[in-house]
Amino acid sequence: MSNHGFDSDTVTLSRFVLAEQSKVPTATGELTQLLNAIQTAVKVISSAVRRAGFTQLFGIAGETNVQGEEVKKLDVLANELFINMLRSSYTVALLISEENETVIEVETSQRGKYIVAFDPLDGSSNIDCLVSIGSIFAIMKKEDNSIPCLKDALQPGTKVVAAGYALYGSATMMVLSLGNSVNGFMLDPSFGEFILTDRNMRIPNRGKIYAINEGYTSEWAPAIREYVENKKNPCKGKPYNARYVGSMVADVHRTIKYGGIFIYPATKSSPNGKLRLLYECIPMAHVIQTAGGLASNGQIPILDVQPTSLHQRSPIFLGSKEDVEEVLEIIKKHEK
Ligand code: AHM
Ligand code: MG
Repeated sequence: MSNHGFDSDTVTLSRFVLAEQSKVPTATGELTQLLNAIQTAVKVISSAVRRAGFTQLFGIAGETNVQGEEVKKLDVLANELFINMLRSSYTVALLISEENETVIEVETSQRGKYIVAFDPLDGSSNIDCLVSIGSIFAIMKKEDNSIPCLKDALQPGTKVVAAGYALYGSATMMVLSLGNSVNGFMLDPSFGEFILTDRNMRIPNRGKIYAINEGYTSEWAPAIREYVENKKNPCKGKPYNARYVGSMVADVHRTIKYGGIFIYPATKSSPNGKLRLLYECIPMAHVIQTAGGLASNGQIPILDVQPTSLHQRSPIFLGSKEDVEEVLEIIKKHEK
């Protein structure tokens, strides 16, 4: 019998995570609870993003953050949502946010075993002109029962148990990597649930799109110039298309769906690149690698980098396996 366009057996994000949890005999349900907290934060942020024009949520909050950047009102709201939802989920011991200079310790009575690093609202410069923005997160475990401290936060990407992002684009989508597969869930605003729409996402082995901020060409190393020049004027075949949103989540999501490469290299003015290792590069590298792609800092895989400080930056080359390998070869050639 027709259900008039309604699926009576729809797979929601919570249902999906519960089913994954049931495959792990030792699972306690804590990760499921944690992901529910992130879902709630993301749903409210999505609603706030869509309604920002009516609720005076556009514009700056009047503060600057740890990186010395202007903080937008939506940044503040998104950060508070992530912190409050995660803290009250009883699943985390420590939080790391782009917006907070130091780690956020969770009080003993609410403490759980996980650590979450997040960028609550990435792509802030795109907020006021309605271009896509996103949230990014990586989840790690606290390795012992000691009082949570900075050392617990500085874990390499190989220790991440789950990572993902939410994209507030023409629709809101959450993409989640549990380390074995990457799955995408679209928010159905009519009943406020994330529905599994992109099962087992795989990035094409090669794409035909490159994404890099070409405004900084004069500040790039010769290897980056050579690579981008090859994409524009190839010896054989067609040139690549250039696409650059300026919101990492949107650029990475397109890269997973269509293939290609996203680069934020070191520049003369930002010798370590712009993007932050713990809550931008590592979570995206986890998603991309699980989907069959590669993510490197130009020397070693992003997931192998040992973080040394909370807000450290890293150059990043991420995307289709063959495209990333190609740029890495050029970098190697220039180093000789
Ligand atoms: P933000 O955390 O201040 O929003 O900055 C991060 C954003 C990324 O989403 C994006 O990839 C990058 O900055 C764009 O930077 P640029 O404008 O230098 O190209
Ligand atoms: Mg950011």
